[in-house]
Amino acid sequence: MSMPILIIGAGKMGTALIRGWVKAGLGPITVVEPNPSETLKAVPGLVLLPDLTAVTAEGWRACVVALKPHIVRAEADKLTALAGGKTLMISIAAGTPLALLHSHWGEGATIVRAMPNTPGSIARGVTAIYAPAPIGPEDRAFAETLLSSIGLTLWVDSEALLDAAMAISGCGPAYVFALVEAMTKAGVAAGLPEEAAAKLARATVTGGGALLDSDPRDPAALIRDVATPGGTTQAAINVLCADNGLPALMTEAVLAAIGRAEELAKS
Ligand SMILES: NC(=O)c1ccc[n+]([C@@H]2O[C@H](COP(=O)([O-])OP(=O)(O)OC[C@H]3O[C@@H](n4cnc5c(N)ncnc54)[C@H](OP(=O)(O)O)[C@@H]3O)[C@@H](O)[C@H]2O)c1
Repeated sequence: MSMPILIIGAGKMGTALIRGWVKAGLGPITVVEPNPSETLKAVPGLVLLPDLTAVTAEGWRACVVALKPHIVRAEADKLTALAGGKTLMISIAAGTPLALLHSHWGEGATIVRAMPNTPGSIARGVTAIYAPAPIGPEDRAFAETLLSSIGLTLWVDSEALLDAAMAISGCGPAYVFALVEAMTKAGVAAGLPEEAAAKLARATVTGGGALLDSDPRDPAALIRDVATPGGTTQAAINVLCADNGLPALMTEAVLAAIGRAEELAKS
């Protein structure tokens, strides 16, 4: 069945979603993007528009807003007529609360907020989703269809939890990449040539992730597989997980991300 989808913004996340929809056979898809990539231009069947002027207000099953938060604020009023109709609006913008979106689009607009992550570009993402109570089952199901095309989904019960989820999974890929950088620097400090340290760190993190993915046991069990009591790994884990170690630092980092989302929401 034809389910016309409009997406505004085809940067990193927008392009990941479009790829997922094309693969899943969803659409037809119209993309509003001032500077579409060559890859996007080569995708058969996409309608590409440079701005919102030629976009009709009606006829869309869903409109996904994949713009940077400050651009959402600048462009939102141009979507008011479209959002006020039957279109399901999905915003993936961080720090952009439903109250702000409703202030532009009206109280009657049907809006879902979602927080995907960049592994969605290889269909290995996870997307947290929040839909307020009035949203009907068909709109929920369609949001699930669109967002699950790039990986797992997790529905949360409140908008505050969406910010918490954003700080774990939305920002989380960067934490993993920062871990690779930190392991590389530690390897260099331990005497390895930088190239060798980078290769070891990268392959260890990707291999560790793949092992985690293939083994249903919790991470503590996987740590026990590596760390013999009194051994070398345990010596390192004792330092990493000390009182001011990684768990405390991670909590501080996550709270910083949530704090920034709250600041953005007020701006
Ligand atoms: N990246 C992540 O890990 C991640 C994760 C979860 C959620 N998000 C959220 O997803 C949203 C998009 O992030 P992103 O990383 O995909 O950003 P991005 O790569 O900058 O993509 C935004 C795209 O929108 C285009 N654009 C700018 N103004 C436009 C307009 N008026 N109409 C249509 N398109 C316009 C931009 O073009 P120009 O570059 O030419 O300006 C860019 O291609 C953000 O709100 C972010 O909070 C991102």
